[in-house]
Amino acid sequence: DKAGHKHYMAKEIAEQPVVVAEAIRSCLPAASDRICLPGEDLDFSKLDRLTMVACGTAFYACLTAKYWFERLAKMPVEVDIASEFRYREPPIPERSLALFVSQSGETADTLAALRYCEGKADKIVSVVNVPESSIARESDLALPIHAGVEIGVASTKAFTCQLAVLLMLALKAAADRGTLTDEELADHAAALRGLPSALNTALEQDNSIRVAAQRLSEARDVLFLGRGLMYPLAMEGALKLKEISYIHAEGYASGELKHGPIALIDKNMPVVVMAPRDVLFDKTVSNMQEVMARKGKVILVSDDEGIAEAQDGVWATIRMPYVHPSLTPILYAVPAQLLAYHTAVAKGTDVDQPRNLAKSVTVE
Ligand code: F6R
Repeated sequence: DKAGHKHYMAKEIAEQPVVVAEAIRSCLPAASDRICLPGEDLDFSKLDRLTMVACGTAFYACLTAKYWFERLAKMPVEVDIASEFRYREPPIPERSLALFVSQSGETADTLAALRYCEGKADKIVSVVNVPESSIARESDLALPIHAGVEIGVASTKAFTCQLAVLLMLALKAAADRGTLTDEELADHAAALRGLPSALNTALEQDNSIRVAAQRLSEARDVLFLGRGLMYPLAMEGALKLKEISYIHAEGYASGELKHGPIALIDKNMPVVVMAPRDVLFDKTVSNMQEVMARKGKVILVSDDEGIAEAQDGVWATIRMPYVHPSLTPILYAVPAQLLAYHTAVAKGTDVDQPRNLAKSVTVE
């Protein structure tokens, strides 16, 4: 049942305000600013490091969470893709938490990586959408993301729900380790409660995103750029686009531009720049100007202030509401998903069942 949408992917993108609210409620009780995990409680003051492992979109959720755990909880974090991690024989130091993120809970490489950590890590925690799955069952603690069944092969609502749960886990770690003040924790709690309404506002930008996507559908290659929390999201945006529109896309850290990819820029190269008006904004804008100086066509995704400051000469803008800087990857996932969706629709590809892809990868 597509609930009036043309594709499951469109329905699942549109569900995000509701399911993300559900995910937030599962760890943030209404009357409190403190994160309270369902099931067994974890004490991050007894842990020194975090190892996160996943594949694909779930891996980009882990890369995003690395920024949160480092900045908010001051914890060293290692992140890897499961197919590399499992064969590398990585040492797992004492007082480590091993964290596995998987929508299906059945991804073969992620499950093998989990088994590798058994008996080595202090605790094995998973963040899953299917509570009965193998990965959930073999974890000490499985945190559900509450996304509901995801049918579109390209992951959308599972990604934003994974991010919401991972951010709350990082806030729990910050509270346990005393690395954020009560005021900072309360700010994050308030921001999380406001997130579903910001996601609704992002969805209302559908028309301007469709116009930008119409232009993208003519491209052979597309670059996505971002810094900080927007860097993993740039890679996720590129993955979404290549999966369903078959347009070649790459996500890069903006600061890497001049170390290679700038050679690709010409008038045929659209560049999607994810740039909320945060502390890194000016740096990203200067990279964006380097793109425009070489006639690259920029699609700028930013908030009111960012667009007012930087829109001169850009090809298209996509306007996001302002949110707390920690929450931008969850919000900016929506335009990344909608850009890929509308580009694929414009090209007439099979959005829900892209060629060569399976929803659950149970063989390595
Ligand atoms: C991308 C996508 C895949 C999955 C990956 C991991 O849109 O859906 O990259 O994210 O195959 O799957 P799970 O999360 O089920 O382990």
